[in-house]
Amino acid sequence: MSPTVSHRAANVRSSAIRDLLANARMPGMLSLAGGLPEPSTFPTTILAEAARVRLGGSPDVLQYAPTEGDARLRGHIAAYETVRQLHDVDPGNVLVTTGSQQALAMVANVIADAGDTIAVPHPCYLGALQTFGAAGLRLHPVRLQGGQLDLDQLENDLRRGVRIAAMYVVANHGNPDGSRLDEAANRRLAGLADWFGFWILEDDPYRELWFDTPPAPALPAYTSNAITLGSFSKTIAPGLRVGWLVASGDVRNALVRLKQAADLHTSSLSQALIADLLDTPGWFIQHVEMLRSLYASRRDALSASLVETFGARLRFEPPTGGMFAWAELEGVDTSALLGAALPKGVCFVPGAEFEAGGDSLRTWLRLSYATLDAEQLAEGVRRVADAVTELDAAPGSLIVAR
Ligand SMILES: Cc1ncc(COP(=O)(O)O)c(C=O)c1O
Repeated sequence: MSPTVSHRAANVRSSAIRDLLANARMPGMLSLAGGLPEPSTFPTTILAEAARVRLGGSPDVLQYAPTEGDARLRGHIAAYETVRQLHDVDPGNVLVTTGSQQALAMVANVIADAGDTIAVPHPCYLGALQTFGAAGLRLHPVRLQGGQLDLDQLENDLRRGVRIAAMYVVANHGNPDGSRLDEAANRRLAGLADWFGFWILEDDPYRELWFDTPPAPALPAYTSNAITLGSFSKTIAPGLRVGWLVASGDVRNALVRLKQAADLHTSSLSQALIADLLDTPGWFIQHVEMLRSLYASRRDALSASLVETFGARLRFEPPTGGMFAWAELEGVDTSALLGAALPKGVCFVPGAEFEAGGDSLRTWLRLSYATLDAEQLAEGVRRVADAVTELDAAPGSLIVAR
């Protein structure tokens, strides 16, 4: 007899993004798929110098370290969160994590039991869907429309007795749809969390990548029921795998125990290097300003190509920040489109991957403008258009009802 895999593990949704990224590495492939930051923005020179100094100094930087994280780094994060949250954040309530993905997984296991329900935006970040599935949580989708979370729907659902342990939100430039929560939405959501007694899980990795106006204060500014997550993946480099969460009291203590059980601590070297960068006065601010201007220009390039190529057939609002354009291609099943696009050397993520329930996103697709330059973006869109032409010409089955 062969031993088996647990039901929970077997039911974890597979990540089409990971499979796609394998294709994205094929020679000549133009990837509009993953949210991969532009690699030339990684601060390699300053990191190399910091690593040389660190590794030439005390070997402690390679030693086991406290689960909560590097004290210097937690101090920097607490100062940053104090500005976001409009109140003093104690470094003792900051827990450094191995990317914000680990923070998501840990929080999902601490604020809810298997079988509990978590409300999620629809469409929803695929990594969150996977994580909540792995934690055995049920999903309650809340519509995102025109860049707004439908808080009327959430409130009505709660009033008619739907019970949720938490609501997950991507506060700024959501993945996939680029939506943002403004101050009024934050206040209202916080009020609902206080009244109905649920947690808000605020995931905010794209916060610094705004193009027009800076984000509203973070949700913990309005309620103590919010747990907030952050990440250096999109602002410094994802391979360092450093993110964080801010939580207090019993939840914070449970999260520390869970992290200890999972991986003892996040890489001491990565944490020390990031703390070194943040110690340099003005460095982070200048760096994120450079990122904003780069990604805004790529957003413009992609938007112009999309409008020029597809005209009225494509429905989309140019995003106000982040890394993704979320668009609907009238009459096109985008999963089938991906099948036609891959041999033409372009990939993107079909809307169906972000379904939190139902089957309403078949004509949508997510296009990342983070990794390719303007010329490559235009060529990528041209290849997608070729694939649409091919599907249009194919009799029947691939085109969903218009
Ligand atoms: C909305 C969202 N949350 C969390 C993550 C995970 O980021 P990381 O673990 O690299 O911090 C991502 C990555 O793309 C994301 O888009």
